[in-house]
Amino acid sequence: MKLNPQLETELATYVSSLYPIDCALGTNPFGPPNLGFEAISGLMTGMGEYYSYSHLAELASEVSKYAIVNAEQITFTNGSMGALELIFNKVLSNDKKSMLGIGPQFVEAVSEFKVSGGSYSSLNMFDYADEESLFLALQSEIRKQKPTLVYIDNPNNPTGRIYARQHLVNVCKVCREVGAILLVDEAYGEFIEHEESMLFEAAKCDNLLVLRSFSKGMGLAGIRLGYVVSSPSLSKYLHSSVVPFGPSLASIKIAKAILPDIEAYLAKSKFRTRHYKLAMMRQLEECGFEVMETSPKTPILLVKKSFVNLAKLLDDNGIMVASGSHFKETNPQMDEQYARIRIVGNDQDLWQFQYRLRQFARVPESTTP
Ligand SMILES: Cc1ncc(COP(=O)(O)O)c(C=O)c1O
Repeated sequence: MKLNPQLETELATYVSSLYPIDCALGTNPFGPPNLGFEAISGLMTGMGEYYSYSHLAELASEVSKYAIVNAEQITFTNGSMGALELIFNKVLSNDKKSMLGIGPQFVEAVSEFKVSGGSYSSLNMFDYADEESLFLALQSEIRKQKPTLVYIDNPNNPTGRIYARQHLVNVCKVCREVGAILLVDEAYGEFIEHEESMLFEAAKCDNLLVLRSFSKGMGLAGIRLGYVVSSPSLSKYLHSSVVPFGPSLASIKIAKAILPDIEAYLAKSKFRTRHYKLAMMRQLEECGFEVMETSPKTPILLVKKSFVNLAKLLDDNGIMVASGSHFKETNPQMDEQYARIRIVGNDQDLWQFQYRLRQFARVPESTTP
């Protein structure tokens, strides 16, 4: 056949056909829940005034029904990041603060703690064959170090693994023995079952703080709303540390409006999360990536490919991810051979994800994504 041989070489162009697939930030890829007409039309009412605290009390009552905790145990903040800042800068006394964690973990919590004058150390989760030995080692380290705070993100960011609640309950007891606070960051808490959460424990353990967020499972990162659930003795410190009118009236109204129907939204979101997560794990493993221990229930995962700058490789192929090197501060093993990937939110992106992985892994086409 007389075909143009020029077309067998790559043609010079600066136009890329690879549209970006955003797997970088840990938001909900399925979008926010629907806000009813009534809530939309009433959004601007009262917006010219500082709000009355009855708005916050109404939200606390909705959240207490959802989280099955007492309204007095809840303190609202600007995102759970706001809660971390509040705890580190105001709630803890300032002399020689130390934090112990399990790395890799949510790095902004660690850097924020250091900026507030604290020191940080961590156990490397990959050094332990199983969760049991990891948590036994953590308990002995707590007894040895007697830290001010033990910080555990559950589900863990970046791996998306879920620690068994019983381990955290045991850690909480050991923290109590040495006068440490246990801070369990459940920013991804909407992806675990209620029985897996530490929310229940907050009423019983007087050294426990549990963080929650509207940013992840609830699909509302833009409203910047989070909350702390604390034991009664800690709640008074939390309540007196918040500045007046912290969360905005707009975010309070939106959160109040979505909560009554949230279970249906969450059920759908969880179902789709599992579907896309399992599919992406299969695709990654097929293309020679190592998927670090994770749960199919969470929307993030950590992958490794030896001797490759993974974030760059994926970025060059239009897939935006967070490089493992961002997490180095929490675990020295983390480098550019690792990347955190958030699941895609639709079939087209799933198919494109697989197509692009196969292109650079040189895996032959098969039929299903
Ligand atoms: C474990 C963890 N905690 C807290 C946050 C902060 O989230 P936000 O301030 O949006 O609630 C994040 C965000 O990525 C996170 O992954």
